[in-house]
Amino acid sequence: MVALARRFGRYRPYAQHEQIELDIGPGLTPRHDSVANFLRRGGLSGSDEPLNVLVRRTSYFREEYAYGTTVLAPGIEVFLYHQGLVDAAAAVHGRPLIEPAIAYANLLVPGQELAVHTDVPEFRGLDRKLVPQWLLVVMHHSGLFDRWRLHIATGVAWFGDAAGGEFVCWPPGHADLRGPGERIPARHGTAAVLDTDSVFHGVARVGGEDAPAPQLRAGCELHAAAADGWDLVTTDGALCGHFAADEVRFSISWKAYCFADATERAAWQDHSDDLAVDTVLDRLAADLEHRTGAADLRTSPALGQRLIDTYIRFPEPADG
Ligand SMILES: [Fe+2]
Repeated sequence: MVALARRFGRYRPYAQHEQIELDIGPGLTPRHDSVANFLRRGGLSGSDEPLNVLVRRTSYFREEYAYGTTVLAPGIEVFLYHQGLVDAAAAVHGRPLIEPAIAYANLLVPGQELAVHTDVPEFRGLDRKLVPQWLLVVMHHSGLFDRWRLHIATGVAWFGDAAGGEFVCWPPGHADLRGPGERIPARHGTAAVLDTDSVFHGVARVGGEDAPAPQLRAGCELHAAAADGWDLVTTDGALCGHFAADEVRFSISWKAYCFADATERAAWQDHSDDLAVDTVLDRLAADLEHRTGAADLRTSPALGQRLIDTYIRFPEPADG
């Protein structure tokens, strides 16, 4: 996998990937929920650094290696269909029919963190290619659309020897999401499989708590260096930084659909019971109006932000 990562070669900042906007949330970025929470709290360490520094800390790099049956990084197949991941996924949701769906790489350079979040869930008829990611997250946390939810298990596998960068999570039963969470070392050749759509998680600072924020320029990419390690390259191709191979935290995330039986899988495949976005927004707006006594939220451009603020309750690492 380490050799595959280098062969693949080029990694864009995650924020640069596609973006979908709705009238009820103009200007909201794909993961407005977790980024705003990160900036508000200063990440896991409660940093009081200025905004531009915090943004550099969480502007990590991502690329897809496989999506559905499309292989984008040849060689990823042994990982995509790994029996250990498949068996663990079946156990996570108690659903035995497992359909591997995606594998993607996350790369973080020294001083970076991954903001605490839950992953982007899917529902029959709605996924991240069709509606904003934050809306899917709101939908799951609201509990209003469980009948349409696709149960997804996520495996996070770590490769390489970067210091720090522990996987931090608040698994079920973690009292009220208070306290620092549980830390799993990102040790080479190990993986964790869990319901990351429900369990809040993040990545502690790579390189240790004292690692300064990386000197990133907007839009710069991470490229496998010709000799060894990784180069930071600006949008016009200029070299603006270099990291040794063992400084960069490299993980591959794996996601699989987990079905109880063939009937449940068929409903997903034949689109016989799909949700439409208007149905979702009508129901969320009505629920929010019921909770708050507000009126006419359905067409309000502030609805998106209000949904995020109401339904997504983040952990409170400093308490407890
Ligand atoms: Fe995640």
